[in-house]
Amino acid sequence: MRKKIVVGNWKMNKTVAEGRELASAIIEQLGEDVIDCEVGIAPAYPVLGEVGKVIENGDVRLVAQNCHYEDDGAYTGEVSTRMLDSLGCSYIIVGHSERRQYFGETNRTVNLRLKKALAEGMQVIMCIGETLEEREGGITESIVTSQVREGLADIDDLSGVVLAYEPVWAIGTGKTATPEQADAVHASIRATIRDMYGEAAAKELRIQYGGSVKPSNAVELFSMPNIDGGLIGGASLKADDFVAIVRAAG
Ligand code: 13P
Repeated sequence: MRKKIVVGNWKMNKTVAEGRELASAIIEQLGEDVIDCEVGIAPAYPVLGEVGKVIENGDVRLVAQNCHYEDDGAYTGEVSTRMLDSLGCSYIIVGHSERRQYFGETNRTVNLRLKKALAEGMQVIMCIGETLEEREGGITESIVTSQVREGLADIDDLSGVVLAYEPVWAIGTGKTATPEQADAVHASIRATIRDMYGEAAAKELRIQYGGSVKPSNAVELFSMPNIDGGLIGGASLKADDFVAIVRAAG
């Protein structure tokens, strides 16, 4: 049985003080309840340290939104996996569509980042998903398959990997894939993984859905057989909404 995983991707939102406040509210609302779901929050780089302190004694994971693929050196503006590890991050998101769309990420650079994070002993959430044009052109499956195959190139062991299917047309738009639409893509991703790594790995791999997940649609989405939690943008910026989504998974 795959344990669900819900992660709040704060993107470029929240100052240090605001992040501390939001993380504290999340911890408080989660309380002592036993929730059968892995939970993470992904603040922007400058906010990781302080949010890390707020969550350090609990079960909520600290997640980074990206990393670089070199150990260190002359890469102005970049952040290494060792730096993220030293802040207490346990997961790193790679290949978010906003990185692909605005910052020139390709399947190859996503693969380099993913390999670096795994080599550092961290876990990775690799995002994949098609644009509206690609969906309307009927090539969703081939786009997502090549993102999976190229993103996971040279990786033998999937135990540190989570995938997040985020249709670009559903991100921040209020348009959610229907549970059936999302599950169909998740099933095709799982089939690709079965083909690459075999049945056991395909059964174990967790695939999150992301794209306008809200408290009102989370239960339906998370009850689909191939959806193992969510990567949450806008709704993760409000403690009430984020915790309601976590509870929908747990
Ligand atoms: P929204 O939940 O705001 O649509 O964002 C989804 C996302 O991109 C999470 O990484």
